[in-house]
Order: sequence, then structure tokens, then C-alpha cells
Amino acid sequence: MKISVIGCGYLGATHAACMADLGHEVIGIDVDPTKVAKLNAGEVPFYEPGLDEVLARALASGRLSFTTSWDDVANFADIHFLCVGTPQKLGSYAADLQYVDSAIAALAPLLTRPALVIGKSTVPAGTAQRLAEYLEHHAPVGAQARLAWNPEFLREGFAVEDTVRPDRLVYGVSDDESAALLAQVYAPVTVHGMPVIVTNPATAELVKVAANSFLATKISFINAMAEICEVAGGDVAVLADAIGHDTRIGRRFLNAGVGFGGGCLPKDIRAFQARVGELGVSHAIDFLDDIDAINLRRRQKVVDLALAAVGGTFAEKTIAVLGAAFKPDSDDVRDSPALDIAASISNAGAHVRVYDPKAMANAALRFPKLEYAPTIEIAVAGSDVVLHLTEWQEFRSVDPATLTPLVRNAHVIDGRLCLDATAWRAAGWTYEALGRPTA
Ligand code: UGA
Repeated sequence: MKISVIGCGYLGATHAACMADLGHEVIGIDVDPTKVAKLNAGEVPFYEPGLDEVLARALASGRLSFTTSWDDVANFADIHFLCVGTPQKLGSYAADLQYVDSAIAALAPLLTRPALVIGKSTVPAGTAQRLAEYLEHHAPVGAQARLAWNPEFLREGFAVEDTVRPDRLVYGVSDDESAALLAQVYAPVTVHGMPVIVTNPATAELVKVAANSFLATKISFINAMAEICEVAGGDVAVLADAIGHDTRIGRRFLNAGVGFGGGCLPKDIRAFQARVGELGVSHAIDFLDDIDAINLRRRQKVVDLALAAVGGTFAEKTIAVLGAAFKPDSDDVRDSPALDIAASISNAGAHVRVYDPKAMANAALRFPKLEYAPTIEIAVAGSDVVLHLTEWQEFRSVDPATLTPLVRNAHVIDGRLCLDATAWRAAGWTYEALGRPTA
């Protein structure tokens, strides 16, 4: 099938490469000519494990290209996947839909033959209906320009796997023809036999924000338990294992620590609250305010622990921060707890030195005043406390004994609860972790 992918960020570039690799003919469009040139040259503009190989294969097959031209897109494809970002609006909880709206405004007047536009971006409930009406009125082909919503559930770090083997597919459609087209597009994926849910567009939009709200709730629930463990003498890691054995609860997404960040969970729970407020039922998800607050409190807790560890003042102190990405196997620093903590401590007067295996270039763009070290060893040299804030394998496997002689004060705060406490203590470190006993 001939498809276009509109917006070539984490979601769109992965979707375009995977769809072409699965046998479709694909054109990707992005407003950023540098990104388009890189993708055409086989260069992934961000870090995503495995995507470079899929992109190389897809380009070599001749089935994939990238452009900045809307005419190319409209001439080439009959199915258009909408994969642009929907970030948080400045000064508001609501989603900023300007990229969605401008993509549809650019495409609609060029749709002179029947087409299906498939939204994948995370949007407030009701957006699909509004865009469907817009297409019907602005596309020369009128009602033959259809719209469906097919939310994306991919996780950064596992983007390729989640695209070619998703755990479910959701088709939000208003007519059988659109459902049939979606089934055809995803035929190479559904051969693996995952569940396909066919529903209306509003449900499909809501499935996505409900899923991310549930995940955020799970994380904040365990972080609330961590707060309690800290004062009651409990160990939240053991508690998570123990409740996780109950299959109704499950152990996944119960890792306590500095909480959730990234370009999705934080802004999605806020946009959901904004939209539900507009719909007049904000009380239904008032609890998401607490979920957000618990999450942000964990960041402050690390700042407080670091301050206590260095004797109550950050002046003249050097703090080493291991991790800048919002999670491992990603170079994404959007709303990263690690960087947020690093910036707060720097603003409070400490000298902060950050090391991350992949995210330092993005981090430096956002926080140029922090110092970035090329290795763990250089990051921790002469430091008064080490903060472990993104659980890269490199940090989990470092031998703490090699770091002990480098630091001024061997004190580590594990914000991700996955360093080997026994090994760090044996190497002479004071090991502290959120929600766990210190001794
Ligand atoms: C999330 C969802 O997991 C995807 O299903 C969804 O498609 C995506 O958002 C999206 O909306 O596009 P992602 O943001 O890539 O994916 O990252 P997650 O793996 O969900 O992690 C989010 C944050 O939660 C990270 O900062 C991570 O460190 C944190 N987290 C995760 C915890 O603190 N504890 C956990 O147990 C799990």
C-alpha cells in the first residue's frame, strides 16, 4: 500500500521505517529539512536502539523516502498517518494541537482522490471528530477524505519492537471501509495474532490517555508507598515485589524512584485533566492532580537528601549526576526527572557535573549551564555526593570500588533503586535510596 507518515519524530520516523520494512511503500514528511536530509541519508536523528538497521533496510529496499513537500505526499499516498507532536501548551495543562491542525490544513486541499487519514498522535477526546469535519469541508474529494484514530502505544527504547509487535491495535473508525483499510495496512503485523479492537474514534482517543494515566498512577502509587516506607522503616522495593506477585496487581511499572518524565506521561495526564474539565466532569479524574504531585515530590526529595548529604549547604560542593535522559536507552530529555533535579541543585548553588551515555547533547541544549563530563569517572571526580537518576546498564554494572578513590565523599543516592547496595557499601560508600532503609 502507498502510505505517508506525517511528522518524523520518535513516533513517525519509527512508524515510517517499520511500515516500509514490512512491505509498504512509504513517504515520510517533516517540516524540518535537516531531519529529512538525515533520514534520507539513513541517519536516525535521535537514539533508538535497532532503528538504524530498520531504516537502512527500508531505504535500501527503495520503498522509503522522506520529503518536505506536501505535493509529494498527496501525489504519492492514499493513506496518511498523522504522527506529529502534541506537547503541553505553554502556561496551560491543555495539549497544544497546532502541529496537528497545521498538518491537516496543509493536506486537506490536496486530497483530490479518496484518502484515509489515520491519526496516531495523542489528542484530547473530540479531536478526531473535529478533524473529520474539517477534512470533509476542505478536501476537494469531500466526504471521501475519511479520518480514523489509531493510537500509538510505543515506548521509547523499544519503539521498533512495539511497532512491529504491539500488544494490541486499536482502530477508532466511523465506517467499515476505514476499518478494512486499517486491517490491510496492519496485515503484516496482525499475522502475529495480537488483539485488534475496533471501536469509535472517541473511544480510541480515550484508550490512549486512559492507558498513560493508568501507568502514571501505578508509578505514583508505588512512589507514595515509598514516602510511607521512608518514615515507617519499610523497604518499598520489597513491598513492590511482594504486592507484584498478586497477578491482579502485577510487578511491572512498580519501580519506585524519581518517578515518570518524558514527552508523554506528564503532559498526557495534564491534557486529560484539561479536556475532562472542558467536558464538565473534572471530578472524575481529580486524583490525577495527586498523581502529578506525588511524582514531582520525589524529585524534591532527592534534592533534600543531597543537601543533607553535603552538610546542609550546596555552596562550594560538587554534585555528580549519573543520568540525564528521562529513562535508559533513550536520548530524550523532555521533562526528565534527572535533569530537573540537576538543574534545581545547580540553581541552589552547587557545582553539578552530569554524565549520560547518550543524552548529553540534548541535555546541554536545554541546560547549558550544567557541566557535562565525558565519562562516569570524570563526572564523579572530587564530588561530595553522587546521584544515580537514570538506570542505564552502564551505571548498574560499574564497579563502585573503582569510583571510591576518585570522590571527595563516598555517598551515593540511588534515585532508581537498582544499584547493588551491598556492593556499594562494601566498597566504602554510604548508600541511600528512595523508600529504602539507609542502614
Ligand atoms: C509511555 C508509555 O509507556 C507508552 O505506552 C506510550 O505509547 C508512550 O508513553 C506515549 O504516549 O507515546 P515512554 O514515555 O516511552 O512511554 O516511557 P515509559 O517506559 O512509559 O516510562 C515513562 C517514565 O516512567 C520514565 O521516566 C520511567 O523512568 C518512569 N517509570 C517507568 C518509573 O518511574 N517506574 C516504572 O516502574 C516505570
